[in-house]
Amino acid sequence: MKLPSFRTLFPAVTLCLSTTLLLTACEQQKTATRLPAKAAVLDIDRVVNYYDINHPVIGRKGMVVSQSEIASNIGAEILQRGGNAVDAAVAVGFALAVVLPRAGNLTGGGFMLVHLQELNKTIAIDYREMAPLAAVEHMFIDSKGDVDNDKALETLAAAGVPGTVAGFEYALENYGTMTLKQLIKPALEIAQQGFVVNDDMVRIVKKTQTLLQQNNETCRVFFKQGCQPYQTGELFKQPDLATTLQYLSEEGADGFYQGDIAKKIVLAMEQGQGLITIEDLRRYQVKELAPIKGHFNGYEILTMPPPSSGGVHLVQMLNMLEQLPIENIAQGSASMMHLQTEIFKRAYVDRSKHLGDPDFVDVPAKGIVSKTYAKKLSQHISHEKITPSSQIKPGEPSGYESPDTTHFSVIDKQGNIVSNTYTLNHYYGSGITIPGTGLLMNNTMDDFSAKVGSPNSYGLVGGKANAIVAQKRPLSSMTPTIVLKSGQPFLATGTPGGSKIITSVFQQLVNILWFDMNVSEATNAPRIHHQWQPDILYVEQNVAADSIALLQQMGYQIELSTSLGSLQTIMLKDGIYYGAADPRRPNAKAVAVN
Ligand code: GLY
Repeated sequence: MKLPSFRTLFPAVTLCLSTTLLLTACEQQKTATRLPAKAAVLDIDRVVNYYDINHPVIGRKGMVVSQSEIASNIGAEILQRGGNAVDAAVAVGFALAVVLPRAGNLTGGGFMLVHLQELNKTIAIDYREMAPLAAVEHMFIDSKGDVDNDKALETLAAAGVPGTVAGFEYALENYGTMTLKQLIKPALEIAQQGFVVNDDMVRIVKKTQTLLQQNNETCRVFFKQGCQPYQTGELFKQPDLATTLQYLSEEGADGFYQGDIAKKIVLAMEQGQGLITIEDLRRYQVKELAPIKGHFNGYEILTMPPPSSGGVHLVQMLNMLEQLPIENIAQGSASMMHLQTEIFKRAYVDRSKHLGDPDFVDVPAKGIVSKTYAKKLSQHISHEKITPSSQIKPGEPSGYESPDTTHFSVIDKQGNIVSNTYTLNHYYGSGITIPGTGLLMNNTMDDFSAKVGSPNSYGLVGGKANAIVAQKRPLSSMTPTIVLKSGQPFLATGTPGGSKIITSVFQQLVNILWFDMNVSEATNAPRIHHQWQPDILYVEQNVAADSIALLQQMGYQIELSTSLGSLQTIMLKDGIYYGAADPRRPNAKAVAVN
């Protein structure tokens, strides 16, 4: 069911500014202004619909969508050469480590969902960072009992044991067809030959300059002589990273976890009060997990299980939405935003108590994603009244079982899909480069709850379930997701955004699976975010002013947010692939293979 956006109803809808009549009056307006669907005239009209305003990129034999045009082109080239989606994804992952060094990485971690079309199977690869063996619960608490944020974010102690190289090698060995050498080569060439710096990179370096310039090696590697930042249009070469990539292409993950790279990491840790030892690196393990499954409006949702909170809460939120009478509520309307916000709060409060690494704590994932639990939670959602966050407590689900990150989605001509989100945590991670490697260390230890009840750098309040323990994986919000329709691949999506990841992916799914928007329309649609604490509704600047007025009248405390997320999405329909790169980040690109 697709209704016109709230904005197209203006000015009629301003008549329903009364909050008590919010639903009923607006409902009538929306129903009255709904337009009949236009039938396709030509066959090609089914593919390129000129009633649409936003157009996805169209492909028939493959699609790669990432936050970098260079990386997307590399992935598409691998598909052209006969590689499958996993091959292309690994090449994109290595390429992003070169061309998007603030988030793409070899020294962070992430999650990859792989749909294997021939086997009709989807698997989840967990290559999240792990706490070093020497990590202890209160390692970021200072003498006054407060969280030492500088230590938790800007030191080598902030680094978790990296998982990316092991994760990519695992994916390739188990599900790819090409060699690591073949897939590292394009990234290696760019590191050697350089790439032209763009405005986006200049902007983010400027934003993080103080942190980056604290570290001599980061100055040497990521800045010009005298620690002067690169400017737009200049060529940025990374010879140390090229040497590292060359070495990895010959030695594989063993070279990273036990060979020369491991030795360099450990030396830096010893000289810089980091905790990672050779034993930590040797013990790092990738895990293959079963995805979290859910159902919404006839679609099957496959998404990331713990230690990401993303999948569990995505399905929980979709389940709650399904319980509410939303048939006549328009996309982008104040009513829809209100209901979504109520849903967000109930999910994030559960996150604060129940979620952590399931190897260390019992996570009631099964209970949280159950329809019965969603029914119970949604009973208390009013269409007209806000439930203040202070009145929302974690539920009791039964049945135990930077902010920057980046996401890419890939599909090949067989219909195999990769949906991958990985991260250094914040922009450029800890800002500390391991001498002689060109590699920046992550600061993902901050994703743990350094102090129970204290918000982390995303404002996320965490519980004991996410306390620091040696070898535990910090809780994440990363939500790589694949959707099936009648058992066949339909959608792949995901986004960066720290705590805002789950709500961004949720809105993307609702816009496509419920409002029937095309992927570009859905991606471009304004987004909102609420995470229970603080009790603030964040809205993007293109949310309709009259919707904001309605929400304010209801009592919402609203703050204008910078853009929320950067969704890289592929949809499949009738054998055609539709790609949409999020316009919220410059240089993101969907590249088709035809
Ligand atoms: N580092 C952000 C996350 O994993 O959610």
